Amino acid sequence: MTKKIEAIIREEKLNDVKDALQAIGIVGMNVTECRGHGRQGGIELVGRSGAYKVDMLPRVQINIVLSDHNLEQAIDTICHAAQTGSVGDGLIFVYPVEDVVRIRTGERGRAALMYPGDIDTRPLG
Ligand SMILES: Nc1ncnc2c1ncn2[C@@H]1O[C@H](COP(=O)(O)OP(=O)(O)OP(=O)(O)O)[C@@H](O)[C@H]1O
Ligand SMILES: [Mg+2]
Repeated sequence: MTKKIEAIIREEKLNDVKDALQAIGIVGMNVTECRGHGRQGGIELVGRSGAYKVDMLPRVQINIVLSDHNLEQAIDTICHAAQTGSVGDGLIFVYPVEDVVRIRTGERGRAALMYPGDIDTRPLG
């Protein structure tokens, strides 16, 4: 019914990804700054005193909770906007969400995810 996308992307791609998501009608989201590495374990830099490894690289994590039927479109949109083709473009994790509560109104589930004009209020296509 409801899923959470946790997309870890390059910092400099945040605006492109945000704009692309807005264009398909994704309204609610949150962003956190994070650090980490994938399978290359970071990068090697060469400085005056020799080579050293930076193993925790800055990234941005975008969190979106959305209805199942919008999941694939959101994933495609993020991939398209965040991709450079080089290693380190990021990863997308998808989780099931048990419930959502809008604190102001007490609405639950899908009703708590609706915003005027968002992807959920448009006809399915
Ligand atoms: N297994 C993981 N669990 C949690 N976070 C991860 C994991 N792997 C990578 N990350 C996060 O995603 C960021 C980007 O990872 P990255 O794109 O390097 O993945 P990758 O699997 O090494 O792919 P690529 O070969 O394209 O580099 C990392 O900096 C880290 O913050
Ligand atoms: Mg990597």
